[in-house]
Amino acid sequence: MKKVYVGMSADLIHHGHINIIHHAKQHGDVIVGLLTDKAIASYKRLPALTYDQRKVIIENLRGVTEVVPQDTLDYVPNLIKIRPDFVVHGDDWKTGIQRETRARVIATLNEWGGKLIEIGYTEGISSTNLHKMLRELGITPEIRMKKLRRLLEVKEIVRFMEAHNGLTGLLVENTRVLKDNLPKEFDGMWVSSLTDSTAKGKPDIELVERMDTLHQLLEATTKPVIVDGDTGGITEHFVFTVKTLERLGISAIIIEDKIGLKKNSLFGTDVKQNQDAIENFAYKISEGKKAQVTDDFMIIARIESLILKAGMEDAIKRAKAYIEAGADGIMIHSKEKEPTEILEFCRLYSKFEQKVPLVVVPTAYCSITEDELQEAGISIVIYANQLIRSAYPAMKKTAESILLHGRAKEADEFCMPIKEILTLIPGGK
Ligand code: SPV
Ligand code: MG
Repeated sequence: MKKVYVGMSADLIHHGHINIIHHAKQHGDVIVGLLTDKAIASYKRLPALTYDQRKVIIENLRGVTEVVPQDTLDYVPNLIKIRPDFVVHGDDWKTGIQRETRARVIATLNEWGGKLIEIGYTEGISSTNLHKMLRELGITPEIRMKKLRRLLEVKEIVRFMEAHNGLTGLLVENTRVLKDNLPKEFDGMWVSSLTDSTAKGKPDIELVERMDTLHQLLEATTKPVIVDGDTGGITEHFVFTVKTLERLGISAIIIEDKIGLKKNSLFGTDVKQNQDAIENFAYKISEGKKAQVTDDFMIIARIESLILKAGMEDAIKRAKAYIEAGADGIMIHSKEKEPTEILEFCRLYSKFEQKVPLVVVPTAYCSITEDELQEAGISIVIYANQLIRSAYPAMKKTAESILLHGRAKEADEFCMPIKEILTLIPGGK
C-alpha cells in the first residue's frame, strides 16, 4: 500500500478537510500530520481545540489510517521520517505564508520520487470566517482561563497589552500586523491598575474597583486576561478575590509585595512605599493558592525590591520564597531606563532549581526587544500603559483644535471617519 501524507491544523473541521482526506485515500494509506499547538502558534493564533481534542476527531474520520504530530509548520522533518509516496494538500498554499513550505515539500519528495497532489480549494468555506463566527459566539470562562497556561506551554514568549475598557479590549483582540509574511497579534490583555484608575479619573492608589472594567473586557473579547491585583489587600480578602476572578475566567492575578498605602511603582522612592515582610507575602500567596477551585488559575508574585532599592539579593531571596509558597509566576519590576538590573536578575534566576514563568513590564526600559527578553528567559512581556498614553495626547490635540478654531472642521483630519466609528463595533447596523 502506498503512503499518503496530509498535513493539517484541523481546528475547525469542515467539508474542505473531508474532501482532502477523501482524495488522499484514493492514493493509499492516509497518514495525517496534525500540527501541534506549538506549530500552529508559531504562525497564527492558538487553536480553539487542543492537540489531543483535534487528534481524537481526526483519528475517527473515515479514510484516516494514522495521526502523527507535526511539530513545525515545515513538513520536512516528518516527510524524511515517513517517506510518503504522496503529499496531498489544498491548492491554496501557492501564495502567502505557506509558499515556501510548499516549495520545500516538493524538493523533499523529489529525493525519493514522491509526488505532491493538490486539490482545488473548496468554495463556500473559510476558516477565517468560521473563526470570526466563533468570536461572535463568544467564549466560556473555563476555555478563556486555560488559554494562558496553553500559551505558556507552546510559545517562547507571550505578549500582553493593557486594556482599560471594552473598546481597548477590542483593539487588543483584533489588532494584527504582518511581519516577514507572518501574522502578529497580542496574546491577551493586562488590566493595569494605572490605566484602569486613570481612565476613571482616579489616582493609582488601590482605590478603584476593577470589576466594572473586567466585565467590559470579558463581554467584548475572547483572549486571556491577567489582572493587576495591586497588593492583593489583606489575606482574608485576597482569598475571595481569587475565587471571584477564577469564576469569571480570568487567567492570572499579579500581586505586588507592598503593604499599606500603595503608590505606583514608577514613582520609585520619590514617594513613601513599604515592602511587605517575606513571610507575610508568602502566606498571602499560599492562602490564595488554597482558595482556587481549579489548577488553571495563576497567582503571580511581583517583587518590588529593585523599585524600592532593597537590592538584588533581596529580590532573589524573595523570588525563592514566593516560588516555595506556591507562586505560579514571578514578576520582577524595574524603573531604570536601562534593562541592566532586570537582565542581572534573569541571569541569577536562570540558576534556580525551581523555576516558574518570569514576567516583566518594560515601561521605563522600553528599548529592550521581545527577542532580547526571550533570550534572557522571560516568558511574559506586558505592555502596561501604552494605549492610554497614546490616546490621551491625541484626544487633547483634537480638543484644543476645536477650542482654537471655534469649529470641528480643522480637527476632522485627526479623527476616524464617522462611517468607520459607526461600524467599528459589530452588530450596530
Ligand atoms: C500597572 O500597569 O498598573 C502596573 C505596572 O502595576 S506599573 O505601572 O509599572 O507599576
Ligand atoms: Mg498597577
